Amino acid sequence: MLLLLLLSSLLLLILIYIKIKYFTLRNDLPGLSPHLFFGNLIQVGLLFGTKAASEVYISLKEKFGDIYQYWIGFVRLIVVHDIDDVQYIFTHRSIYDQGQVFIEKFSVLIPESIICNIGAKFKRHGAITMPLFRRNKITANLNLIVDATDKILDRWRAKPSEFIHKDIVEQSQNLLLEIFGLIAFDYNLETIDEQHSDKANELTQALQDVMSIFRVIIYSPRLVSTTYMKWNSKYRRARQIVERYLSNMMEQELNENPQWREERKKTSLIASLVHSLQMDEKIEAQKQEEDKKGLSRSEVFDEMLLFLIAGYETTSTALSWCIYQLSKYPKIQEKLKIEIMSKTNGQYITLEHIDSLSYLDCFINEVFRYSPTIDGTSRAVMVDDRLPKTGVQLYKGDQILLPTSALSRDKRYWKIDPDLFYPERFLNEDKDHNPYAFSPFGGGHRQCLGQDLARFELKVIVARMLQQVTFVDGGQEVNSGGYVQKLTILPRHIGIVIQFN
Ligand code: HEM
Repeated sequence: MLLLLLLSSLLLLILIYIKIKYFTLRNDLPGLSPHLFFGNLIQVGLLFGTKAASEVYISLKEKFGDIYQYWIGFVRLIVVHDIDDVQYIFTHRSIYDQGQVFIEKFSVLIPESIICNIGAKFKRHGAITMPLFRRNKITANLNLIVDATDKILDRWRAKPSEFIHKDIVEQSQNLLLEIFGLIAFDYNLETIDEQHSDKANELTQALQDVMSIFRVIIYSPRLVSTTYMKWNSKYRRARQIVERYLSNMMEQELNENPQWREERKKTSLIASLVHSLQMDEKIEAQKQEEDKKGLSRSEVFDEMLLFLIAGYETTSTALSWCIYQLSKYPKIQEKLKIEIMSKTNGQYITLEHIDSLSYLDCFINEVFRYSPTIDGTSRAVMVDDRLPKTGVQLYKGDQILLPTSALSRDKRYWKIDPDLFYPERFLNEDKDHNPYAFSPFGGGHRQCLGQDLARFELKVIVARMLQQVTFVDGGQEVNSGGYVQKLTILPRHIGIVIQFN
């Protein structure tokens, strides 16, 4: 009995120590007093995903002003809303580098990928991965994106005309996964075809398993996520399958004749990555990071998985929001259809068509601004520094959160009310908006690598769809919007009637 009492007192003392040391407001910055282990997640309604992080930042800013502290579970973040300070952080790369939040989360799964690295290793990976997203490589995918979109349109055409589609999010994911497989691996994952939909092929299933496991670990503390990954046989099996396929693809690529490989390198992602493989991994491994060249096999593998994780769910979420907003704003949809039909005349879409669709660019921008896919991004403070505008002192190791989603709704930075969905703002009044008020893909040296690809995919898909269909609001009961906060911010209730022209 005495022993039990002693043990409980000891446990209580440890908990009090942890609370005071790690879960207490610090440095005179305002904020909600954090709970033990959960931080502010319960207070702000994020624990069960009922609110979007973007809404949370807006309400915390109203309460605490332009800078405050905020805990996501164990992680203490300093949230910065002042636009001059945001610009300063994005543009001072030697003081503000990749946030620990990203490094911790991603390194459980893909430690060798660019997102987990800083300094010389980041530069080596960047030199190889950034050229993969050059315009000519992206636009080379036009036909495959149109053809995949046509397949999904065929599925929709087969449904009764009054059918309410409540699975737009899943359909968008299937479409983007099929496109990802073709762009990244030259491989048909068969996620759209009706006859294949019930028995997903081995690689598709494995990729989907990796994604679903990543969704589980993203909000858990590192110890929990590493243990979970270690013991999760589903994950181990999925990873082995993806590795096996990727190895085969690499071998296949390496066996091609050099002239053919040189040609393919210009347009194919897997061919370019294989081209960057180190000749002798053992020799490269012994060199200083600054002197290393190329990527090892495991680095190529991690980059491919990163592209999947960073690229597929984000873009499919943005597509779901595009479809939702089209259903809510029929006049905007009509204007888009007129632009698309006048430029394309209903023909197969070409690059010239895509480049000429300026109102569609405004629409996609407005979807990113109004219904953000990602709530924000993060940076770690590398040396002590003072922010120029708010004058707040920061210390090495502090973690910063840049709430890009809240800035795109901040009335101070927009001439037309940012709570209005109004694509024309990007042609007129808000054409010269502050660039840091609208940065859905982050900013500075760690900005999104795949942003041009994502924009291109969205533009081609939406243009192709609007050539053939009109998205109609399925009624308030099924199409009431709202948010689900997962890896991205998804629409909660979406119900659309799809009318063919
Ligand atoms: C709607 C689609 C997308 C959105 C909203 C999005 C958003 C973002 C954001 C906010 C960041 C953090 C940037 C920063 O910290 O400044 C990021 C990073 C990144 N994104 Fe995207 N992204 C999208 C699509 C893609 C695609 C299609 C790919 C590639 C296939 C991709 C690859 C990456 C990579 C590799 C990084 C890490 C860059 C680094 O660590 O330096 N993203 N993305």
